[in-house]
Amino acid sequence: MWDVEGKRYFDFLSAYSAVNQGHCHPRIYKALIDQAKVLTLTSRAFYSDVLGEFEEYITNLFGYDKWLPMNTGVEGGETACKLARKWGYTCKNIPQYQAKIIFVEGNFWGRTMSAVSSSTDPSSYGGFGPFMPGFELIPYNDLAALDKALADPNVCAFMVEPIQGEAGVVVPKDGYLKGVRELCSKHNVLWIADEVQTGLARTGKRLAVDYENVKPDILILGKALSGGFYPVSGILANDPVMLAIKPGEHGSTYGGNPLGCKIALEAIRVLEEEKLAENAYKLGNILREELRKLPEDVVSLVRGKGLLNAIVINEKFDAMKICLKLKDAGLLAKPTHGHIIRLAPPLVITEPQIQECADIIVKTIIDYVK
Ligand SMILES: Cc1ncc(COP(=O)(O)O)c(C=O)c1O
Repeated sequence: MWDVEGKRYFDFLSAYSAVNQGHCHPRIYKALIDQAKVLTLTSRAFYSDVLGEFEEYITNLFGYDKWLPMNTGVEGGETACKLARKWGYTCKNIPQYQAKIIFVEGNFWGRTMSAVSSSTDPSSYGGFGPFMPGFELIPYNDLAALDKALADPNVCAFMVEPIQGEAGVVVPKDGYLKGVRELCSKHNVLWIADEVQTGLARTGKRLAVDYENVKPDILILGKALSGGFYPVSGILANDPVMLAIKPGEHGSTYGGNPLGCKIALEAIRVLEEEKLAENAYKLGNILREELRKLPEDVVSLVRGKGLLNAIVINEKFDAMKICLKLKDAGLLAKPTHGHIIRLAPPLVITEPQIQECADIIVKTIIDYVK
């Protein structure tokens, strides 16, 4: 990125993982311009020739029967919760309006009333009550707590990020996702995976759940689905779940519009054809290895997968001040929760560039604590 004075930066936020393909990717830009000349919006009241093409592509790629399109990531989460409740009443025979959804502490899935109702962060929910009923919280990365919570017959779904992004790139222990799959199946509860941030090559696989070869019942995608050009999100599910919602029961004026579909189609093709998951996997390993050379009394932990990473700064140092020094040195990053700095560059970054960035980060932090 270049600022208005022409100074060059490496962008280590990537618009919170929306620009995995890099800023203004020429192929996605062309798809946008080409489609904008033809047709941008019909609403879902009428067919367009593009929605079906995109639905076929995305359902085949991820192996689900149906795609339900929305616009922003949080609408994807809202849609998943609505669908899960409807499934709970029509398929699991939960008594009317008694359905519960289990979330984990530290989750982040946006800013709507439902999203803040499940939040444990006072800056998200504080001052916005009353909150959505039927939401319960358990600790993250705790299968025993999950087993207990799911035993309640009124639970219709468990919603979780495979790696918690906004909480500071919190990676659960190996086997957690497999355990989630097993427990949700055992208790006849839908597993909703929020891959709005972790999905689409960011963590070094197409999806973060691919690390454990497990398949959620409902998968939420957003952010990089449009490579930063346009809000496109949605959920994937198989027919026994998706068809719980009938035509006319859910929708959005812009959801599934031809412009968004063409952009998303090209955005995913770029990820696949440029092998950006593979690149993220390889360069993530290099980045973490370099960052682990920082003294432990300054950076107590380096964690992440692929190119979704964070360093945990010793609390006696100010992470915001370090980020401002990084900016002066030509690298943009942002602290989360005070002492954690997220490091998530676009996935088109090259090996020499990641090496240069690792040098900038190491040198800046060493100079700062001197
Ligand atoms: C995991 C996760 N889910 C959902 C969202 C919400 O996405 P949006 O801001 O597009 O509504 C975010 C945003 O940061 C997120 O990180």
